[in-house]
Amino acid sequence: MSSHESQLHLGVFLRGVGHHLASWRSPLVTSGSEISFTHYRHLARTAERGKFDMVFLGDSVCVRERPEGVKREILQRLGHLVHFEPLTLLSALSTATTHVGLVGTASTTYNEPYHVARKFASLDHISDGRAGWNVVTSTSLAEANNFNREEHLGHAERYVRANEFVDVVVGLWDSWDDDAFVADKAEGIYFDEDKVFEINHRGAHFNVKGPLNLSRPPQGHPVIVQAGSSDAGKDLAARTAEVVFTAQRTLKEGQAFYRSLKDRMSKYGRAPDELKIMPGVFTVVGRTQEEADDKYGHLQELVDPKVGVAMLSRTTGIDLSAYPLDAPLPRFGGNNVQQARPELIDALAEREHLTIWQTILAIAGARGHHVLIGTPERIADELEERFKGEAADGFNLMPPYLPGGLEDFVDLVVPELQRRGLFRTEYQGSTLRDHLGLARPANVNKVRADARAQA
Ligand SMILES: Cc1cc2nc3c(=O)[nH]c(=O)nc-3n(C[C@H](O)[C@H](O)[C@H](O)COP(=O)(O)O)c2cc1C
Repeated sequence: MSSHESQLHLGVFLRGVGHHLASWRSPLVTSGSEISFTHYRHLARTAERGKFDMVFLGDSVCVRERPEGVKREILQRLGHLVHFEPLTLLSALSTATTHVGLVGTASTTYNEPYHVARKFASLDHISDGRAGWNVVTSTSLAEANNFNREEHLGHAERYVRANEFVDVVVGLWDSWDDDAFVADKAEGIYFDEDKVFEINHRGAHFNVKGPLNLSRPPQGHPVIVQAGSSDAGKDLAARTAEVVFTAQRTLKEGQAFYRSLKDRMSKYGRAPDELKIMPGVFTVVGRTQEEADDKYGHLQELVDPKVGVAMLSRTTGIDLSAYPLDAPLPRFGGNNVQQARPELIDALAEREHLTIWQTILAIAGARGHHVLIGTPERIADELEERFKGEAADGFNLMPPYLPGGLEDFVDLVVPELQRRGLFRTEYQGSTLRDHLGLARPANVNKVRADARAQA
């Protein structure tokens, strides 16, 4: 029997017209809606109708699928190249929704902590406590090239910087005590000078004095989400994260990751339930298995082999255009850009003896995440198995096409999960922390100041 909560958590990763590589070619989507606020507003409201904990936006600060050497001829066949800046979009969405959490990605490699602290604190105030920051270290040279660099920072150094970055951001969020602003009109005192903290941080990557020019966010700290699954990624998560987004394909892999991450937390004085593990899940829902298989089949038929080869070359770090499609996928492992995901795909291809083309089809939908194609009951069965089997505390849904793939899940799968008592039927609180069952954190600067005063 599971030792975690009795109900699972749900997020949805909103990505333009959907997660499937060829979704932009499907008759089920409206071209151009990836840059339509009306489209995203409908998605966020649909997630809220389904009582989701949060909507989630990934990000990159470049035209992402531009691995070095991809020919223009292939580039022009890719969807998913343009997207909104997440914080701007989430701020707008906050005015169109009332409960659903708003999680956006910001890179620790191509940002300064002061900017990030300020933007997420602003979003938390604007949304009355619904903001979350997905901490990533970025994955491409194309991003380096947009930020004055010839090379992408190495994997290990990116994580050193990320650890320091998060500490600075948290310190800045706690620049003021919750009740610092007394606004005493009679006395003419605007804030209590004992309740502001300079962080005076001096470290390997950052020197930041503070304080932040914004009062403490409603949630204390916007929820810290982390996406990165290597050892260094797991250590960062065990120390700082409250939600982890990860790709875990099988039940066994999911359980091993779950255990390995939760076990690491005690090293940092944290309890396992202070962090929720929410693997990605790509779902194609049908009223019958045949209907689901047909929907998926239509999307798979639209996969352009050239695009597939470019995508897999990017993931593996090997130029696969020189190989025949029916050749076995050459073995590879983690690389400087990314470790965990290439390793997952390498293991999948080896375990199932996949050719290059078969590997492309296996990851065209969800880039290595868990793929679930079937009836609401079947999908609920698998989610329940992973939840109760301690492979997950919840899931980050990755609909194949949008908005239809999310609507299907909300209309068909959510009621099934609710019927089983596995998912809420109403929001119990109003902040993202409330939905996730996470405590509001103490002010780290105040805790330190109090400790110094007592010493
Ligand atoms: C599930 C998942 C989602 C991610 N989403 C993003 C993203 O939106 N933007 C980004 O720049 N990096 C993203 N990353 C990349 C990570 O931040 C990290 O840079 C990369 O995975 C390398 O670290 P790892 O080897 O620890 O996984 C994601 C990683 C994972 C596992």
